[in-house]
Amino acid sequence: MPDISCNCAGITAPNPFWLASAPPTNTGDQIMRAFDLGWGGAVWKTLGDPVQNVSSRFGAINHNGTRAIGFNNIELITDRPLETNLREIREVKRLYPKHAVVASLMFGGRDEWIDAVKRCEDAGADGLELNFGCPHGMCERGMGSAVGQEPKINEEITRWVADVASIPVLIKLTPNVGDILPHGLASQRGGADGVALINTVKSIIGVDLDRFVPVPRVGNKGSNGGYCGAAVRPIALHMVAQLARSKEFNLPISGIGGISDWRHVVEFLLLGSTSIQVATAAMLQGFRIVEDMESGLQSWMRSHGFEKLDDFVGLAVPNYSEWGDLDINYEVVADIDRDKCIGCQVCYVACRDGGHDCITLKSDSRIPEVDEKECVGCNLCSHVCPVIDCITMKEVDNGFAPASWNEHLTKGTPIVPKKGVHE
Ligand SMILES: Cc1cc2nc3c(=O)[nH]c(=O)nc-3n(C[C@H](O)[C@H](O)[C@H](O)COP(=O)(O)O)c2cc1C
Repeated sequence: MPDISCNCAGITAPNPFWLASAPPTNTGDQIMRAFDLGWGGAVWKTLGDPVQNVSSRFGAINHNGTRAIGFNNIELITDRPLETNLREIREVKRLYPKHAVVASLMFGGRDEWIDAVKRCEDAGADGLELNFGCPHGMCERGMGSAVGQEPKINEEITRWVADVASIPVLIKLTPNVGDILPHGLASQRGGADGVALINTVKSIIGVDLDRFVPVPRVGNKGSNGGYCGAAVRPIALHMVAQLARSKEFNLPISGIGGISDWRHVVEFLLLGSTSIQVATAAMLQGFRIVEDMESGLQSWMRSHGFEKLDDFVGLAVPNYSEWGDLDINYEVVADIDRDKCIGCQVCYVACRDGGHDCITLKSDSRIPEVDEKECVGCNLCSHVCPVIDCITMKEVDNGFAPASWNEHLTKGTPIVPKKGVHE
């Protein structure tokens, strides 16, 4: 069996599957049940001055019959007393010494931060995660994303904590910024041992069409919340990759956002995360999703000959390229498998109305045909086709040597003539 034990910023765990700070990590009982089912670590629901939460507090987007492809919450940090949480952290660590228990923290002034650090260390936490990311409620109080959006404040508070902490400190970054790099670098300058990202995306998930109130609805009002779940995974992958490929940034990353199965875990690890965290999927599907994550990761590692996580963490990072350095002469065209095609012509409509109008219909057949001379290889038809693998993209040898747009501009390297323009 491959070794899937993990070390993220000095925090060790039997595997890289950690529960993110959220309702599944509200209590010691929940976390111990999660550990029994296979989770390797848990980031405790953010500790701070206990809050009063609102009712209701969650919203979701359903799409084409799939429930909650995007999730949204206006919940704040823990509503439980600090002493209670610390007592339970101590108990969890006593019973599960090898699992990672990370205390998520959010406080206001320097003294409060430092006091909380000491108390979490005394309770036996393996690491700290500073919540600089919550985009609702707490930011109005000068905390959460209000800190994460200001590199100077991020750096200052990180330093307060890093200077006194004897256990690893992760900074949980907010995605509600234009460019994540300055924020990762601020945490690095402040002395963090690692970063965790993403927290939730500031959002309004919908509006009640009869009451004219944003949802989730609290009486007759709604507020912006934090978007998470499957829909945010692409944003999270982008931000993780952006930090991982920066030469200036060299802290370990705990990747979070829309993870629900082993494939997502592998994606985050390939883009440079050394552990991953899950909130929404554990809320929607329960703790047992970790079983599929573990068996899927193990068998994927075996099929690729990887013995430990370090063998492949970050392997996809060098394969990221700026657009201008992509090979503009690389060419694919759509290929419709006539045996699989059901003649629905959805690809024809998509290409005609939303693509480059290079799929044609013949009067004697319902099966569309691709005009390869005009097909730009955009993939749209393959994405709308309801039959798996009916439309694939096949590589074309156009006789042009590889060349990027940048090379074309600077060296005049020849590029393949444009297709699908219909002049
Ligand atoms: C209901 C809910 C409450 C959350 N509470 C916290 C919190 O207290 N502290 C924190 O750092 N993140 C909190 N988060 C954010 C998650 O930890 C995570 O960063 C985010 O949801 C993205 O991961 P996901 O797509 O797996 O949910 C919360 C998320 C949800 C859905």
